[in-house]
Amino acid sequence: HHAKLTLDPAFKVAPVSRRTFGTFVEHLGRCVYTGIFEPDHPSADEDGFRGDVLGLTRELGVSTVRYPGGNFVSGYRWEDGIGPVAQRPRRLDLAWHSTETNEVGVDEFVRWCRKAGVEPMMALNLGTRGIAEALDLLEYSNHPSGTALSDLRAANGAKEPHAIRMWCLGNEMDGPWQTGHKTAREYGRLAAETARAMRMVDPGLELVACGSSSSSMPTFGAWEATVLEETYDVVDYISCHAYYEEKNGDLGSFLASSADMEYFISSVVATADHVGARVKSRKKINISFDEWNVWYLSRFQNAAPPTDWPVAPPLLEDHYHLADAVAFGGLLITLLRNSDRVTAASLAQLVNVIAPIMTEPGGRAWRQTTFHPFAQASRYAAGDVLRVEPVSPAYETALYGEVPLVHAVATHSEEGTTLFAVNRSADGPLSLEIDTRALGGRRIVEATTLTDPDVYARNTADEPDRIAPRANGDVEHDPARVLLPPVSWNVIRLA
Ligand code: AHR
Repeated sequence: HHAKLTLDPAFKVAPVSRRTFGTFVEHLGRCVYTGIFEPDHPSADEDGFRGDVLGLTRELGVSTVRYPGGNFVSGYRWEDGIGPVAQRPRRLDLAWHSTETNEVGVDEFVRWCRKAGVEPMMALNLGTRGIAEALDLLEYSNHPSGTALSDLRAANGAKEPHAIRMWCLGNEMDGPWQTGHKTAREYGRLAAETARAMRMVDPGLELVACGSSSSSMPTFGAWEATVLEETYDVVDYISCHAYYEEKNGDLGSFLASSADMEYFISSVVATADHVGARVKSRKKINISFDEWNVWYLSRFQNAAPPTDWPVAPPLLEDHYHLADAVAFGGLLITLLRNSDRVTAASLAQLVNVIAPIMTEPGGRAWRQTTFHPFAQASRYAAGDVLRVEPVSPAYETALYGEVPLVHAVATHSEEGTTLFAVNRSADGPLSLEIDTRALGGRRIVEATTLTDPDVYARNTADEPDRIAPRANGDVEHDPARVLLPPVSWNVIRLA
Protein backbone atom coordinates (compact mmCIF):
# COMPACT_ATOMS: atom_id res chain seq x y z
CA HIS A 1 0.00 0.00 0.00
CA HIS A 2 1.08 3.58 -0.66
CA ALA A 3 -0.36 6.81 0.78
CA LYS A 4 0.57 10.46 0.71
CA LEU A 5 -0.09 13.59 2.73
CA THR A 6 1.06 17.20 2.90
CA LEU A 7 2.20 19.09 5.99
CA ASP A 8 1.61 22.81 5.65
CA PRO A 9 1.54 25.32 8.56
CA ALA A 10 -0.99 27.35 6.55
CA PHE A 11 -3.65 24.69 7.20
CA LYS A 12 -4.17 25.48 10.85
CA VAL A 13 -7.22 24.02 12.64
CA ALA A 14 -6.77 25.54 16.13
CA PRO A 15 -4.17 25.73 18.89
CA VAL A 16 -3.53 22.42 20.64
CA SER A 17 -5.71 22.49 23.76
CA ARG A 18 -3.84 21.00 26.72
CA ARG A 19 -7.18 19.93 28.11
CA THR A 20 -7.46 17.35 25.33
CA PHE A 21 -5.15 15.26 27.51
CA GLY A 22 -7.44 14.92 30.49
CA THR A 23 -8.31 11.68 32.26
CA PHE A 24 -10.83 10.53 34.83
CA VAL A 25 -10.76 9.11 38.37
CA GLU A 26 -14.05 7.64 39.57
CA HIS A 27 -14.89 5.96 42.86
CA LEU A 28 -15.28 2.70 40.98
CA GLY A 29 -13.54 -0.62 41.49
CA ARG A 30 -9.84 -0.08 42.22
CA CYS A 31 -9.41 3.32 40.59
CA VAL A 32 -9.17 5.24 43.88
CA TYR A 33 -8.47 2.50 46.45
CA THR A 34 -5.33 0.50 45.49
CA GLY A 35 -5.13 2.79 42.42
CA ILE A 36 -4.14 6.34 43.32
CA PHE A 37 -4.52 5.72 47.08
CA GLU A 38 -3.07 2.86 49.09
CA PRO A 39 -1.53 3.90 52.42
CA ASP A 40 0.05 0.47 53.02
CA HIS A 41 1.79 0.34 49.67
CA PRO A 42 5.63 0.44 49.80
CA SER A 43 5.64 3.49 47.50
CA ALA A 44 2.92 5.38 49.44
CA ASP A 45 3.71 8.92 50.57
CA GLU A 46 2.67 10.67 53.79
CA ASP A 47 -0.85 11.17 52.37
CA GLY A 48 -1.25 7.53 51.37
CA PHE A 49 -0.87 8.18 47.63
CA ARG A 50 0.98 5.57 45.62
CA GLY A 51 4.25 7.06 44.39
CA ASP A 52 4.48 4.66 41.46
CA VAL A 53 1.05 5.75 40.19
CA LEU A 54 1.87 9.43 40.70
CA GLY A 55 5.04 8.94 38.64
CA LEU A 56 3.21 7.16 35.82
CA THR A 57 0.48 9.84 35.84
CA ARG A 58 3.13 12.51 35.30
CA GLU A 59 4.77 10.44 32.58
CA LEU A 60 1.38 10.00 30.88
CA GLY A 61 1.21 13.79 30.55
CA VAL A 62 -2.24 14.24 32.05
CA SER A 63 -3.70 17.77 32.05
CA THR A 64 -7.08 17.57 33.84
CA VAL A 65 -8.67 14.82 35.95
CA ARG A 66 -12.44 14.48 36.16
CA TYR A 67 -13.74 13.29 39.55
CA PRO A 68 -15.52 11.57 41.42
CA GLY A 69 -17.69 10.00 38.66
CA GLY A 70 -19.17 8.78 36.47
CA ASN A 71 -22.26 6.94 37.48
CA PHE A 72 -20.99 7.04 41.08
CA VAL A 73 -21.50 10.79 41.37
CA SER A 74 -25.26 10.57 40.83
CA GLY A 75 -25.73 9.12 44.32
CA TYR A 76 -22.77 10.80 46.04
CA ARG A 77 -22.87 13.09 49.08
CA TRP A 78 -19.68 15.08 48.96
CA GLU A 79 -19.88 15.88 52.71
CA ASP A 80 -19.30 12.18 53.45
CA GLY A 81 -15.75 12.59 52.17
CA ILE A 82 -14.54 15.48 54.35
CA GLY A 83 -13.31 15.84 57.94
CA PRO A 84 -11.72 13.24 60.24
CA VAL A 85 -11.44 9.98 58.30
CA ALA A 86 -12.46 7.79 61.25
CA GLN A 87 -15.81 9.55 61.42
CA ARG A 88 -16.65 9.32 57.73
CA PRO A 89 -19.67 7.13 56.95
CA ARG A 90 -19.62 3.97 54.88
CA ARG A 91 -22.33 4.10 52.21
CA LEU A 92 -23.91 1.94 49.56
CA ASP A 93 -22.77 2.86 46.07
CA LEU A 94 -25.74 1.94 43.89
CA ALA A 95 -23.94 2.54 40.61
CA TRP A 96 -21.32 -0.18 41.13
CA HIS A 97 -22.98 -2.23 43.86
CA SER A 98 -20.05 -1.54 46.18
CA THR A 99 -19.43 -0.11 49.64
CA GLU A 100 -17.85 3.36 49.63
CA THR A 101 -15.62 3.94 52.65
CA ASN A 102 -15.11 7.66 51.94
CA GLU A 103 -11.45 7.50 52.98
CA VAL A 104 -10.80 9.70 49.95
CA GLY A 105 -12.89 12.80 49.32
CA VAL A 106 -12.55 16.20 47.70
CA ASP A 107 -9.69 17.44 49.93
CA GLU A 108 -7.58 14.33 49.37
CA PHE A 109 -8.33 14.37 45.67
CA VAL A 110 -7.24 17.98 45.24
CA ARG A 111 -4.07 17.28 47.24
CA TRP A 112 -3.35 14.37 44.90
CA CYS A 113 -3.97 16.65 41.88
CA ARG A 114 -1.39 19.16 43.13
CA LYS A 115 1.15 16.38 43.55
CA ALA A 116 0.42 14.96 40.12
CA GLY A 117 0.54 18.42 38.53
CA VAL A 118 -2.99 18.10 37.10
CA GLU A 119 -6.07 20.32 37.15
CA PRO A 120 -9.13 18.95 38.97
CA MET A 121 -12.43 18.88 37.07
CA MET A 122 -15.33 18.35 39.46
CA ALA A 123 -18.56 16.54 38.66
CA LEU A 124 -21.74 17.41 40.57
CA ASN A 125 -24.52 15.10 41.67
CA LEU A 126 -27.64 16.15 39.75
CA GLY A 127 -29.17 12.68 40.13
CA THR A 128 -30.26 12.49 43.77
CA ARG A 129 -29.34 16.10 44.56
CA GLY A 130 -29.57 19.60 43.15
CA ILE A 131 -28.75 23.31 43.29
CA ALA A 132 -28.22 23.69 47.05
CA GLU A 133 -25.68 20.88 47.35
CA ALA A 134 -23.85 22.09 44.22
CA LEU A 135 -23.56 25.56 45.75
CA ASP A 136 -22.35 24.08 49.03
CA LEU A 137 -19.58 22.15 47.34
CA LEU A 138 -18.61 25.22 45.34
CA GLU A 139 -18.41 27.36 48.48
CA TYR A 140 -16.52 24.67 50.37
CA SER A 141 -14.03 24.25 47.52
CA ASN A 142 -13.49 27.72 46.14
CA HIS A 143 -14.46 30.44 48.59
CA PRO A 144 -11.35 31.88 50.31
CA SER A 145 -12.63 32.14 53.91
CA GLY A 146 -15.07 33.77 56.29
CA THR A 147 -18.10 31.55 55.67
CA ALA A 148 -19.17 28.36 57.38
CA LEU A 149 -18.16 26.06 54.54
CA SER A 150 -14.92 27.80 53.54
CA ASP A 151 -13.82 27.90 57.18
CA LEU A 152 -14.69 24.22 57.48
CA ARG A 153 -12.37 23.49 54.56
CA ALA A 154 -9.58 25.39 56.30
CA ALA A 155 -10.31 23.53 59.55
CA ASN A 156 -10.03 20.29 57.58
CA GLY A 157 -6.52 21.24 56.59
CA ALA A 158 -6.97 23.04 53.25
CA LYS A 159 -6.36 26.70 54.00
CA GLU A 160 -5.97 27.68 50.35
CA PRO A 161 -9.09 27.38 48.17
CA HIS A 162 -9.15 24.42 45.79
CA ALA A 163 -9.75 26.86 42.91
CA ILE A 164 -11.68 24.37 40.77
CA ARG A 165 -12.60 26.00 37.47
CA MET A 166 -14.26 23.22 35.48
CA TRP A 167 -17.51 21.67 36.70
CA CYS A 168 -19.65 18.96 35.12
CA LEU A 169 -23.36 19.51 35.70
CA GLY A 170 -24.18 15.86 36.44
CA ASN A 171 -23.20 12.72 34.57
CA GLU A 172 -24.92 10.83 31.72
CA MET A 173 -28.36 12.04 32.73
CA ASP A 174 -29.72 10.67 29.42
CA GLY A 175 -29.00 7.10 30.54
CA PRO A 176 -31.77 4.98 32.12
CA TRP A 177 -29.02 3.34 34.25
CA GLN A 178 -28.24 6.69 35.90
CA THR A 179 -29.54 7.22 39.44
CA GLY A 180 -32.01 10.07 39.03
CA HIS A 181 -32.16 9.72 35.22
CA LYS A 182 -34.19 12.56 33.70
CA THR A 183 -35.79 13.64 30.47
CA ALA A 184 -33.86 16.20 28.44
CA ARG A 185 -36.26 18.96 29.49
CA GLU A 186 -36.10 18.06 33.19
CA TYR A 187 -32.33 17.83 33.12
CA GLY A 188 -31.91 20.95 31.00
CA ARG A 189 -33.93 23.00 33.48
CA LEU A 190 -32.00 21.68 36.49
CA ALA A 191 -28.64 22.18 34.77
CA ALA A 192 -29.56 25.73 33.77
CA GLU A 193 -30.72 26.69 37.27
CA THR A 194 -27.63 25.12 38.84
CA ALA A 195 -25.35 26.89 36.38
CA ARG A 196 -27.06 30.25 36.92
CA ALA A 197 -26.68 29.98 40.69
CA MET A 198 -23.03 28.88 40.43
CA ARG A 199 -22.26 31.85 38.19
CA MET A 200 -23.68 34.15 40.87
CA VAL A 201 -20.83 32.89 43.04
CA ASP A 202 -18.22 33.00 40.28
CA PRO A 203 -18.97 34.03 36.68
CA GLY A 204 -15.58 32.71 35.57
CA LEU A 205 -16.39 29.02 36.09
CA GLU A 206 -16.37 26.73 33.07
CA LEU A 207 -19.48 24.58 33.05
CA VAL A 208 -20.23 21.38 31.15
CA ALA A 209 -23.78 20.24 30.40
CA CYS A 210 -24.40 16.51 29.90
CA GLY A 211 -24.74 15.46 26.30
CA SER A 212 -25.31 11.90 25.12
CA SER A 213 -23.78 8.75 26.61
CA SER A 214 -23.12 7.47 23.10
CA SER A 215 -24.11 8.27 19.53
CA SER A 216 -26.43 5.24 19.58
CA MET A 217 -28.64 6.50 22.42
CA PRO A 218 -32.28 6.66 21.27
CA THR A 219 -32.38 10.33 22.30
CA PHE A 220 -29.08 11.28 20.58
CA GLY A 221 -29.40 14.62 18.81
CA ALA A 222 -32.75 15.54 20.35
CA TRP A 223 -31.19 15.39 23.83
CA GLU A 224 -28.46 17.91 22.96
CA ALA A 225 -30.93 20.24 21.26
CA THR A 226 -33.31 20.33 24.24
CA VAL A 227 -30.59 20.58 26.88
CA LEU A 228 -28.88 23.42 25.02
CA GLU A 229 -32.16 25.26 24.48
CA GLU A 230 -32.37 25.44 28.27
CA THR A 231 -28.70 26.05 29.04
CA TYR A 232 -27.15 27.82 26.04
CA ASP A 233 -26.32 31.11 27.79
CA VAL A 234 -25.00 29.62 31.02
CA VAL A 235 -22.77 26.71 29.95
CA ASP A 236 -19.54 26.53 27.98
CA TYR A 237 -19.46 22.89 26.95
CA ILE A 238 -21.70 20.01 26.04
CA SER A 239 -20.23 16.58 26.86
CA CYS A 240 -19.82 13.50 24.65
CA HIS A 241 -19.08 9.98 25.92
CA ALA A 242 -18.03 7.08 23.68
CA TYR A 243 -16.60 3.60 24.20
CA TYR A 244 -15.58 1.11 21.53
CA GLU A 245 -14.72 -2.59 21.48
CA GLU A 246 -14.02 -5.29 18.91
CA LYS A 247 -17.26 -7.18 18.35
CA ASN A 248 -17.73 -10.56 16.63
CA GLY A 249 -14.09 -10.72 15.55
CA ASP A 250 -14.56 -7.71 13.24
CA LEU A 251 -11.11 -6.16 13.59
CA GLY A 252 -11.52 -3.96 10.51
CA SER A 253 -14.52 -2.10 11.91
CA PHE A 254 -12.95 -1.88 15.34
CA LEU A 255 -9.79 -0.23 14.01
CA ALA A 256 -12.06 2.30 12.29
CA SER A 257 -13.90 3.24 15.52
CA SER A 258 -12.84 6.86 15.08
CA ALA A 259 -15.34 7.03 12.19
CA ASP A 260 -18.13 6.88 14.76
CA MET A 261 -16.41 9.45 16.95
CA GLU A 262 -16.08 11.76 13.93
CA TYR A 263 -19.80 11.38 13.21
CA PHE A 264 -20.60 11.98 16.89
CA ILE A 265 -18.57 15.21 17.01
CA SER A 266 -19.87 16.66 13.76
CA SER A 267 -23.46 15.88 14.76
CA VAL A 268 -23.11 17.56 18.15
CA VAL A 269 -21.38 20.61 16.64
CA ALA A 270 -24.18 20.96 14.08
CA THR A 271 -26.83 20.58 16.78
CA ALA A 272 -25.18 23.11 19.09
CA ASP A 273 -24.79 25.64 16.27
CA HIS A 274 -28.39 25.11 15.23
CA VAL A 275 -29.57 25.91 18.77
CA GLY A 276 -27.21 28.90 18.81
CA ALA A 277 -28.94 30.25 15.70
CA ARG A 278 -32.36 29.72 17.24
CA VAL A 279 -31.51 31.48 20.50
CA LYS A 280 -29.75 34.22 18.47
CA SER A 281 -26.41 33.83 20.18
CA ARG A 282 -22.99 34.38 18.62
CA LYS A 283 -21.43 32.35 21.39
CA LYS A 284 -20.16 28.87 20.46
CA ILE A 285 -20.64 25.85 22.68
CA ASN A 286 -17.58 23.58 22.61
CA ILE A 287 -17.33 19.86 23.27
CA SER A 288 -15.92 18.28 26.40
CA PHE A 289 -15.37 14.68 25.25
CA ASP A 290 -15.15 13.72 28.89
CA GLU A 291 -15.36 9.94 28.60
CA TRP A 292 -13.70 8.08 25.75
CA ASN A 293 -11.82 4.81 25.45
CA VAL A 294 -11.81 1.22 24.34
CA TRP A 295 -14.04 -0.66 26.80
CA TYR A 296 -15.17 -4.30 26.52
CA LEU A 297 -18.55 -3.22 27.84
CA SER A 298 -20.33 -6.34 26.57
CA ARG A 299 -18.00 -8.49 28.71
CA PHE A 300 -18.93 -6.37 31.73
CA GLN A 301 -22.65 -6.54 30.94
CA ASN A 302 -22.52 -10.32 30.52
CA ALA A 303 -20.79 -10.85 33.89
CA ALA A 304 -22.97 -11.98 36.80
CA PRO A 305 -24.15 -8.95 38.79
CA PRO A 306 -22.61 -8.75 42.28
CA THR A 307 -24.78 -9.98 45.12
CA ASP A 308 -22.85 -8.44 47.99
CA TRP A 309 -21.42 -4.94 48.53
CA PRO A 310 -17.62 -5.27 48.36
CA VAL A 311 -15.12 -2.47 49.02
CA ALA A 312 -13.06 -1.56 45.94
CA PRO A 313 -13.56 -4.85 44.06
CA PRO A 314 -11.75 -5.41 40.75
CA LEU A 315 -14.21 -4.01 38.19
CA LEU A 316 -13.86 -3.07 34.52
CA GLU A 317 -10.22 -4.21 34.50
CA ASP A 318 -9.70 -4.53 30.76
CA HIS A 319 -6.26 -5.68 29.63
CA TYR A 320 -5.49 -3.92 26.40
CA HIS A 321 -3.72 -5.46 23.42
CA LEU A 322 -1.95 -3.88 20.48
CA ALA A 323 -5.06 -3.58 18.32
CA ASP A 324 -6.80 -1.77 21.20
CA ALA A 325 -3.93 0.73 21.33
CA VAL A 326 -4.18 1.35 17.58
CA ALA A 327 -7.96 1.87 17.71
CA PHE A 328 -7.33 4.12 20.72
CA GLY A 329 -4.68 6.08 18.79
CA GLY A 330 -7.24 6.62 16.04
CA LEU A 331 -9.66 8.11 18.59
CA LEU A 332 -6.97 10.42 19.90
CA ILE A 333 -6.21 11.56 16.35
CA THR A 334 -9.90 12.33 15.80
CA LEU A 335 -10.07 14.39 19.01
CA LEU A 336 -7.04 16.40 17.88
CA ARG A 337 -8.35 16.83 14.33
CA ASN A 338 -11.45 18.46 15.83
CA SER A 339 -9.54 20.81 18.15
CA ASP A 340 -11.51 23.80 16.89
CA ARG A 341 -14.54 22.48 18.80
CA VAL A 342 -13.31 19.66 21.03
CA THR A 343 -11.37 21.76 23.51
CA ALA A 344 -11.48 19.36 26.46
CA ALA A 345 -11.46 15.57 26.78
CA SER A 346 -11.05 12.94 29.48
CA LEU A 347 -9.76 9.47 28.86
CA ALA A 348 -11.91 7.15 31.00
CA GLN A 349 -10.23 6.23 33.26
CA LEU A 350 -6.73 6.67 34.76
CA VAL A 351 -5.86 3.58 36.77
CA ASN A 352 -7.14 -0.03 36.93
CA VAL A 353 -10.65 0.78 35.63
CA ILE A 354 -10.44 0.65 31.79
CA ALA A 355 -7.14 2.37 32.28
CA PRO A 356 -3.71 3.06 30.79
CA ILE A 357 -2.11 2.35 34.22
CA MET A 358 -2.57 -0.98 36.05
CA THR A 359 -1.59 -1.87 39.60
CA GLU A 360 -1.45 -4.89 41.85
CA PRO A 361 -2.72 -4.20 45.38
CA GLY A 362 0.47 -3.91 47.42
CA GLY A 363 2.56 -4.66 44.34
CA ARG A 364 3.66 -3.58 40.92
CA ALA A 365 2.31 -0.93 38.54
CA TRP A 366 2.70 -1.04 34.76
CA ARG A 367 1.79 0.67 31.50
CA GLN A 368 -0.92 -0.85 29.35
CA THR A 369 -0.55 -0.68 25.55
CA THR A 370 -2.87 2.34 25.43
CA PHE A 371 -0.57 4.29 27.73
CA HIS A 372 1.85 4.91 24.89
CA PRO A 373 -0.26 6.71 22.25
CA PHE A 374 -1.62 8.98 24.97
CA ALA A 375 1.80 9.76 26.49
CA GLN A 376 3.39 10.43 23.11
CA ALA A 377 0.54 12.63 21.89
CA SER A 378 0.52 14.62 25.12
CA ARG A 379 4.28 15.04 24.97
CA TYR A 380 4.69 15.97 21.32
CA ALA A 381 1.44 17.73 20.37
CA ALA A 382 2.40 21.41 20.58
CA GLY A 383 1.53 24.71 18.98
CA ASP A 384 -1.19 24.44 16.35
CA VAL A 385 -3.11 21.46 15.07
CA LEU A 386 -2.61 21.16 11.31
CA ARG A 387 -5.20 19.77 9.02
CA VAL A 388 -3.80 16.86 7.02
CA GLU A 389 -5.75 15.09 4.31
CA PRO A 390 -4.10 11.76 3.49
CA VAL A 391 -4.61 10.36 0.02
CA SER A 392 -4.85 6.75 1.09
CA PRO A 393 -6.17 3.43 -0.10
CA ALA A 394 -9.42 2.53 1.64
CA TYR A 395 -10.98 -0.71 2.88
CA GLU A 396 -14.54 -1.85 3.37
CA THR A 397 -15.85 -2.13 6.96
CA ALA A 398 -19.12 -3.73 8.09
CA LEU A 399 -19.93 -0.85 10.44
CA TYR A 400 -18.66 2.29 8.70
CA GLY A 401 -18.45 1.49 4.97
CA GLU A 402 -15.25 2.57 3.17
CA VAL A 403 -12.58 3.84 5.54
CA PRO A 404 -9.06 5.05 4.64
CA LEU A 405 -6.19 2.84 5.81
CA VAL A 406 -4.30 5.86 7.11
CA HIS A 407 -5.72 8.20 9.76
CA ALA A 408 -3.53 11.13 10.74
CA VAL A 409 -3.13 14.57 12.28
CA ALA A 410 -0.15 16.87 12.78
CA THR A 411 0.85 19.66 15.11
CA HIS A 412 3.28 22.46 14.39
CA SER A 413 5.22 24.89 16.58
CA GLU A 414 8.50 26.77 16.48
CA GLU A 415 10.28 23.77 17.96
CA GLY A 416 9.06 21.22 15.49
CA THR A 417 6.32 19.50 13.55
CA THR A 418 4.91 16.14 14.64
CA LEU A 419 2.78 13.77 12.62
CA PHE A 420 0.63 11.17 14.39
CA ALA A 421 -0.62 8.38 12.13
CA VAL A 422 -2.21 4.96 12.40
CA ASN A 423 -2.10 2.25 9.75
CA ARG A 424 -5.35 0.29 10.04
CA SER A 425 -4.30 -2.32 7.54
CA ALA A 426 -3.98 -5.81 9.00
CA ASP A 427 -2.52 -7.25 5.82
CA GLY A 428 0.56 -5.23 5.17
CA PRO A 429 2.77 -2.22 5.75
CA LEU A 430 1.96 1.08 4.19
CA SER A 431 4.46 3.43 2.62
CA LEU A 432 3.57 6.98 3.62
CA GLU A 433 5.05 9.82 1.60
CA ILE A 434 5.11 13.18 3.39
CA ASP A 435 5.22 16.38 1.37
CA THR A 436 7.34 18.68 3.54
CA ARG A 437 7.94 21.51 1.05
CA ALA A 438 6.03 24.05 3.16
CA LEU A 439 8.08 23.26 6.27
CA GLY A 440 11.13 25.33 5.34
CA GLY A 441 13.71 22.55 5.36
CA ARG A 442 12.46 20.55 8.33
CA ARG A 443 13.44 16.89 8.08
CA ILE A 444 12.41 13.74 9.90
CA VAL A 445 14.48 13.54 13.08
CA GLU A 446 12.68 10.68 14.76
CA ALA A 447 10.11 8.05 13.81
CA THR A 448 8.68 5.58 16.31
CA THR A 449 6.10 2.87 15.90
CA LEU A 450 3.91 0.86 18.26
CA THR A 451 3.24 -2.52 16.71
CA ASP A 452 3.64 -6.27 17.18
CA PRO A 453 3.37 -9.32 14.93
CA ASP A 454 0.57 -10.49 17.26
CA VAL A 455 -2.14 -7.80 17.25
CA TYR A 456 -3.58 -9.37 20.41
CA ALA A 457 -0.32 -9.13 22.39
CA ARG A 458 -0.60 -7.37 25.76
CA ASN A 459 1.60 -5.92 28.47
CA THR A 460 1.54 -7.66 31.83
CA ALA A 461 3.17 -7.12 35.22
CA ASP A 462 5.76 -9.75 34.24
CA GLU A 463 6.29 -8.44 30.72
CA PRO A 464 5.41 -4.75 31.03
CA ASP A 465 7.26 -3.54 27.93
CA ARG A 466 6.24 -6.10 25.35
CA ILE A 467 4.29 -3.34 23.58
CA ALA A 468 6.14 -0.01 23.64
CA PRO A 469 7.16 2.52 20.98
CA ARG A 470 10.29 1.44 19.10
CA ALA A 471 12.45 3.34 16.63
CA ASN A 472 11.22 2.90 13.08
CA GLY A 473 14.25 2.45 10.83
CA ASP A 474 12.23 2.44 7.59
CA VAL A 475 12.62 6.15 6.91
CA GLU A 476 13.76 7.93 3.73
CA HIS A 477 14.48 11.61 3.15
CA ASP A 478 13.92 13.75 0.00
CA PRO A 479 11.16 12.94 -0.47
CA ALA A 480 10.27 12.06 3.10
CA ARG A 481 8.82 8.59 3.37
CA VAL A 482 8.06 6.28 6.30
CA LEU A 483 6.99 2.66 6.20
CA LEU A 484 4.11 2.15 8.65
CA PRO A 485 3.88 -1.48 9.85
CA PRO A 486 0.49 -3.25 9.68
CA VAL A 487 -1.80 -2.32 12.62
CA SER A 488 0.44 0.38 14.04
CA TRP A 489 0.46 3.73 15.82
CA ASN A 490 3.23 6.03 14.59
CA VAL A 491 4.84 9.29 15.69
CA ILE A 492 7.03 11.09 13.14
CA ARG A 493 8.90 14.17 14.33
CA LEU A 494 10.36 16.77 12.01
CA ALA A 495 12.68 19.63 12.96
O1 AHR B 1 -16.30 5.02 32.90
C1 AHR B 1 -17.20 4.03 33.31
C2 AHR B 1 -18.63 4.52 33.30
O2 AHR B 1 -19.04 4.73 31.97
C3 AHR B 1 -18.94 5.83 33.96
O3 AHR B 1 -19.16 5.70 35.32
C4 AHR B 1 -20.19 6.29 33.29
O4 AHR B 1 -20.31 7.68 33.26
C5 AHR B 1 -20.11 5.65 31.93
O5 AHR B 1 -21.27 4.99 31.60
